[in-house]
Order: sequence, then structure tokens, then C-alpha cells
Amino acid sequence: MLVDNQHFRTIWPNSNTEFPYVEIIDQTKLPHAFKVEKITSLEQMIVAIKTMQVRGAPLIGAAAAYGIALAMLKASNDAHLKASAAQLIASRPTAVNLKWAVERMLRHLLVLPAQERLQAAWVEAALICEEDVLLNQAIGAHGVALIDHMHSEKIRTINILTHCNAGWLATVDFGTALAPIYAAHNAGIDVHVWVDETRPRNQGASLTAWELGQHGVPYTVISDNAGGHLMQQGLVDMVIVGADRVTATGDVCNKIGTYLKALAAADAAAYGHQVPFYAAVPSPTIDWGLSDGISQIEIEERHADEIAWMNGRLASGEVASVNILPAGARVANPAFDVTPARLVTGIITEQGVFAPSQLDQLQRTHV
Ligand code: MRU
Repeated sequence: MLVDNQHFRTIWPNSNTEFPYVEIIDQTKLPHAFKVEKITSLEQMIVAIKTMQVRGAPLIGAAAAYGIALAMLKASNDAHLKASAAQLIASRPTAVNLKWAVERMLRHLLVLPAQERLQAAWVEAALICEEDVLLNQAIGAHGVALIDHMHSEKIRTINILTHCNAGWLATVDFGTALAPIYAAHNAGIDVHVWVDETRPRNQGASLTAWELGQHGVPYTVISDNAGGHLMQQGLVDMVIVGADRVTATGDVCNKIGTYLKALAAADAAAYGHQVPFYAAVPSPTIDWGLSDGISQIEIEERHADEIAWMNGRLASGEVASVNILPAGARVANPAFDVTPARLVTGIITEQGVFAPSQLDQLQRTHV
């Protein structure tokens, strides 16, 4: 997608040199600075994933695949490969894409002779990235039909609420929840996005707002608590969110606060407003082995500092962190929640839009 009118992806390799490396956009610096960082080792990639320089379910899958390729620079025997895979899988537990990508790399590499593994790892990681781009474009194509249909009925701006960042920054390119929105905007459909700020790390305010702005899509940032009010007032036409893990039964695990938006969307009907709630989900995000998201999905608990400290730009222009808590305050920081399938209108996948109860109709091409 575009950064100052130049096309970028979130991650790209440079494997044709004596010392191959990967480059990433450092998302911890956005929106105040656009910085590209060179990643030269497995260890550095793990830090990038843990500190959320790269984040978003599909992107951490792609990053982990390149983490395996970087690990192969040091040793390509089975034990090293398996140990590297275990370290990567442990780096962030909730998004299943990470585990999916690492297991796919393992399956692909373990059957090859050790001397072929290094090159094969770079090729397979690149393939995972290319596939992610195609999946997201297909999600965009299916999702835009929903927006177009609503637009032809209402014949006015379609207001879409989104939570966290499930845009191109969360993937290799195009995004999941934002892919239909970009497709609608590109097709000349009048869309406007309500962007939840998404505490504690503010991925909505910092990342979604930034990338929508770069692409020229009209948006308004709102506090996390405003969504229910807007839906009650009929100011939201649909909700589209991404997902970190979806069960075979259609429970959607996504950034903390998503569940509350789904509850509000369902309750808006009591005030005469139909607000469909969609999750945009590439099939590697579906964990086919799970049937109950609330009891079976591990929710990542992140550091208290994410609640205590806020990043921003001071009036002086300097970027700084400030502490907003009283000394000694106790903090809990669950990073994700699960929206049960009963609150989900549809799941927008690369193969079409499915009711949560019909997910089993999806062809399992990415398992
Ligand atoms: O903690 P993050 O920023 O990695 O969480 C990201 C989200 O929750 C996204 O909504 C989700 O990964 C879908 S991304 C296409």
C-alpha cells in the first residue's frame, strides 16, 4: 500500500547477498516516524515480534516464517530447526497464524536434506507472503460486495466501525478488515471509517488512522467507549474487524474490546438500527481443531507498562512516553477477547462470506 505515494509492503527479504536479511516497517515508531529496520537473526526477529515492531496475526506469521529462514543461516540440522520453531511459537501465543506459518515451514524443511534447507526456507517464506497478499485481495473482493450492496440500498455514505488495526500494516499487504474498505474507496463507493483508538497500545489511533490517511480514506478516530453510543444513534452501518484466531464453530478472537463492539452492534436492533458485525478472516487464521473459543483460546497477557505508559508527541514536537497511573497501581492487561459466534453476522474469507455456523463449508487449502 502507499506511504507518501510510494508502494510498500510491511516485510521484505534481501536474500541475494552473502549475509541475507529481512526488512520490516517498525510499527512501534508510527505514526510519528516511518522507520525501516533490518532484521539479521532469529533472535532479532523474536524481539521484533514480542515488542510489536511487527504485529497483526498474518504479519507475525510471515515474520515467523522469515525467522525460520534466518535461523537456517546458523545451522540447518533437525534439532536447531525444531528449537527455533518452538522459540518463535512461544513469542506470541494468541494469533494462530504464527504457529501455522512455523509448522508449515517445519513440514516443508524437515523432509529436505540439510544442505537444501537454507534456500528452501527463503523461498517458502516468500511464498507465505505472496499467498497472504492474494488472500487479502480476495477478502477485499468479497467484502466490497457487502458494502456496495448496502450503499445501493441506503444511497449515502456507509459508516464502518473497525477496532484495532487489521489493515495492511497487520498483514503483508492490503489488510483483512480494511481490504474491503480500500476496495470500496478505490471503486468510488462513499465510505467513512470510525476508528476505535484501541487502548492500551492504540493500534487504531496510531496505525489504522495513519494508513487510512495515507490512502485517502475518510475516517474519524473515536475513543474506545464511543462505539456503543454511535451504534445506538444509528451512526454505524456495519462493523468489520480482523481476527487472531477463529474456531471451526465461528467464535472470533481479536483485540481486547472487540466483544463489547459486537454486543453493542447486536443491541442496536433494540433502537431500530441493524448493525451487522463481520470478521474478515483469511483461512490460516482458522484453528480447525477448536470448537469453543472462550475456553480453548489462550489469551495473551501483556506487560503492565502498556497500560501505565502512553506514547505520543509533545507540543515541542518531541516523541515521549508518559505514565498515567498513580504510583503502585495494580494492572491487568489481557490483550485479546473472544466474540461468540452468535454475535457474528458473517465471516469474510478469501472464499466468500460465510455464516459462522457454515465455516465448515470452506475448503481447507491452508491447513
Ligand atoms: O496485538 P496486535 O496488534 O498484534 O493485535 C492485532 C489484532 O488484534 C488484529 O485485529 C488482528 O491480528 C487481525 S490482523 C489482520
